[in-house]
Amino acid sequence: MRILMVCLGNICRSPIAEGVMRHKVKENGLDWIVDSAGTESYHVGEAPHRFSQKICLKHGIDISHQRAVKLTADSFAGYDKIYAMATDVYEEIKYLGGKQADMTKVELFLNDLHPGKNESVPDPYYGEEGGFLQVYELIDKGCEAIIKNNK
Ligand code: 4NP
Repeated sequence: MRILMVCLGNICRSPIAEGVMRHKVKENGLDWIVDSAGTESYHVGEAPHRFSQKICLKHGIDISHQRAVKLTADSFAGYDKIYAMATDVYEEIKYLGGKQADMTKVELFLNDLHPGKNESVPDPYYGEEGGFLQVYELIDKGCEAIIKNNK
């Protein structure tokens, strides 16, 4: 399975999701490919936010090598499952995909953890470090639920 984690800037939430999911995929002996992307181009080429890097490293996960990329319509062909970190991101994925937007591949990231709730992972970008810690815990649980439902 090839999965893509998507948020807005690809520097706060989805890089954590990529790092945590890759870690869990390895732990579980799965052969999934995991990447991440953003719906906006503001931060393309940048490393993850320093607080995203810090909280991941605290859990033994180094995401410093990751670089932000923007989602394109072609991303739909490259992945089996695309996880939107938030409802606004879900809508933007649909828009960017245009005719290639196969929305059967797209799911809200937290719906495996909390089925049918359509919850969003809060955007920590404008907040303090504590927000990143909460986001990490939520993403960790979300990844765990996705693995449980798909392995
Ligand atoms: P992310 O957070 O989508 O979790 O990477 C954000 C990063 C950058 C911006 C907004 C959210 N921004 O407006 O630049």
